[in-house]
Amino acid sequence: MNEAKIRYGGDYNPEQWPVEVREEDLRLFDKASIETLTVGVFSWGLLQRDETTYDFSELDDVLHRLRDAGKQVVLATGTGAHPAWLARKYPDVTRVDFEGRKHVYGQRHNACPNSPSFHRFATAYVEQLAQRYAHLGNVVAWHVGNEYGGACYCENCAAAFRVWLQRRYGTLERLNDAWNTTFWSHTMHAWDDVVPPNALSEHWRGPNHTAFQGITLDYLRFTTDSMISSYLQEKEVLNRITPGIPVTTNFMGAYRPLDYHRWAPHLDFASWDNYPPDAKSQDRMALAHDLVRGLKGGAPFWLMEQTPSTTASRDVNPVKRPGVMRLWSWQAVAHGADAVLFFQMRQSRGACEKYHGAVIDHSGRDDTRVFAEVAALGAELAALREEVVGARTPARVAVLFDWDSWWAVEISDGPSRLVNYLEVVRRYYAALQAANVGVDVVPVDTDLDGYDVVVAPLLHVVKGDLAERVERFVASGGTFLTTWLSGRVDEDDNAFLADVPGPLSDVLGIRVTETDALPAEDVNPVRPVGGWADVPAPAESGPWAGNLVFDVVEPRGAEVVAEYTADFYAGTPAVTRHGVGEGRAWYVATSLEPAGVEWVVDRALAGAGVRSPYGWVRGLEVTERVRDDARYLFLLNHGEEEVVVAADRAGRSLLDGRDVAAGQDLRLAPRDVVVLRTPALSGTASGKSGHTGAGAEREGE
Ligand code: GLA
Ligand code: ZN
Repeated sequence: MNEAKIRYGGDYNPEQWPVEVREEDLRLFDKASIETLTVGVFSWGLLQRDETTYDFSELDDVLHRLRDAGKQVVLATGTGAHPAWLARKYPDVTRVDFEGRKHVYGQRHNACPNSPSFHRFATAYVEQLAQRYAHLGNVVAWHVGNEYGGACYCENCAAAFRVWLQRRYGTLERLNDAWNTTFWSHTMHAWDDVVPPNALSEHWRGPNHTAFQGITLDYLRFTTDSMISSYLQEKEVLNRITPGIPVTTNFMGAYRPLDYHRWAPHLDFASWDNYPPDAKSQDRMALAHDLVRGLKGGAPFWLMEQTPSTTASRDVNPVKRPGVMRLWSWQAVAHGADAVLFFQMRQSRGACEKYHGAVIDHSGRDDTRVFAEVAALGAELAALREEVVGARTPARVAVLFDWDSWWAVEISDGPSRLVNYLEVVRRYYAALQAANVGVDVVPVDTDLDGYDVVVAPLLHVVKGDLAERVERFVASGGTFLTTWLSGRVDEDDNAFLADVPGPLSDVLGIRVTETDALPAEDVNPVRPVGGWADVPAPAESGPWAGNLVFDVVEPRGAEVVAEYTADFYAGTPAVTRHGVGEGRAWYVATSLEPAGVEWVVDRALAGAGVRSPYGWVRGLEVTERVRDDARYLFLLNHGEEEVVVAADRAGRSLLDGRDVAAGQDLRLAPRDVVVLRTPALSGTASGKSGHTGAGAEREGE
């Protein structure tokens, strides 16, 4: 992992092309400064023809050529897609889906995570691979499976679920209590009474409509744990045979079906595949980068896949415009990536990815726009040499991200099925991004003490000692911000038998007396009150639309910052702030439109003294990576206009080799990137260092 260069390359599947192109591939890799190749992701079916017959000659050829050419290899275990004979002879390998349909062979990423046959043959295959290539010398990481996902509802999974429940609850009494089974005659008198909650059981109208949220939540957790144990069976083989080679699997950013926080301890480093749905996804991508970096406590991660030009899986698949691939690659590095890898090197001949973008397209040419951009970025990264690699990303702001809350708030019956956890988190994250303050996206059990501001949108589930930790954090000077539908249920999805928002009521200094929900188009304008009305907004001034869900709030010590202007709760609080000890706790009682969220976030940051000299320049994203001797400032222009900002410190602009004086203008054309290396200043990283006096954020008063 300590290679002194940002890794560059990606998925390489030469078994899909005539062997003659392999030498040409190597020439083109050199031309594009590509040195890290992910090999074997989908080769299991090719290399093993039945239970006992392996033929590795194809892979030998590829790996020896790469080694002889001085390339490094991420070797995949290849278990993301299984051989056809395996599914034919061992039917437990294929899944039963949510509707209860038993699947047959086809597709990929579809093995039952509790299939004994899959595990037997997968681990045997992995053992062969590891034995054969352990001493190759250029394998820099193991890539287990591929993009784990989905769920299975077969009999093996049902049995494993019962075992999982016995471990979690110990007794049926505790299980019945957690699931609130006196409701609708659900008391379980035997472990075998339990069945997976699918369309034939607790659900109707799809996975988000369940009769028993507690059961569904546990099945989601169990599914994650099942996939983890599937992954671990392979990892154990790898660790035994090649203990020095790190093991990972490629995640998918903020992916709802699997709780990556449960998985993170089992990764040697984190990695993810970035396929944004559109060209306006910079916040979505940044959020995912920060989330993935947060999986391993802020350690650098890998961008394991991105397309150099276009995807093929969407209804409409635009190409990345000139400069976009470069900009988004640098964005990954700016957020902590130490590897920039593509899917894939050469474009598929057939099947569903034949129009998916690749470094080398069907023509095999090196004079395409895409190849030229890939080669130009490769040269740029190579010229950086050891700069940036390993540098950390300091942040004074944390966003709490919680799969339990994500699942619980979206599977809840009432108050609204229109709630989209990720969209709400993204809206708050986007406001922090616009302020250009460094953000860590972290699980709720993270130590909050290193942060000045903690933002917890839709913190629906409050579990463990979180409430006490939030209280201590605020009392000792922290700023905490949470929203509507937070503090509603415990870890089992049972409501707190207390004032809403349950264990967060005291620190927030409020009581929610009712929660209204309206169709998306019904808006209740929210406007700042008192001195807050005069505070300038970073974007449009209020009133701002509130919609979807409306908590009716009774202040109990909290100050009213903004109020509803319509309906029977007109004039009651929509945003509150509560001073506790040295700190503040904010509550936003409705889904505010982005400009309103920006205003609230800006006020909360100002109160905490968290500011960036590059804040609120539209289109401009700025991040920092630091190490002992240097700070790397990344400036990325995602907008359509040129951006001009003054450098906050003197340094060297690494991509064009210019020296920059403090205060000197940095000009960024649309899609341009500047990486400014400056000396590291001590004390710029985290720590509750920047608090200003009470009320300082109400500049307008
Ligand atoms: C995923 C997979 C790859 C490929 C790409 C296409 O990320 O891991 O195998 O299918 O999607 O976008
Ligand atoms: Zn199964």
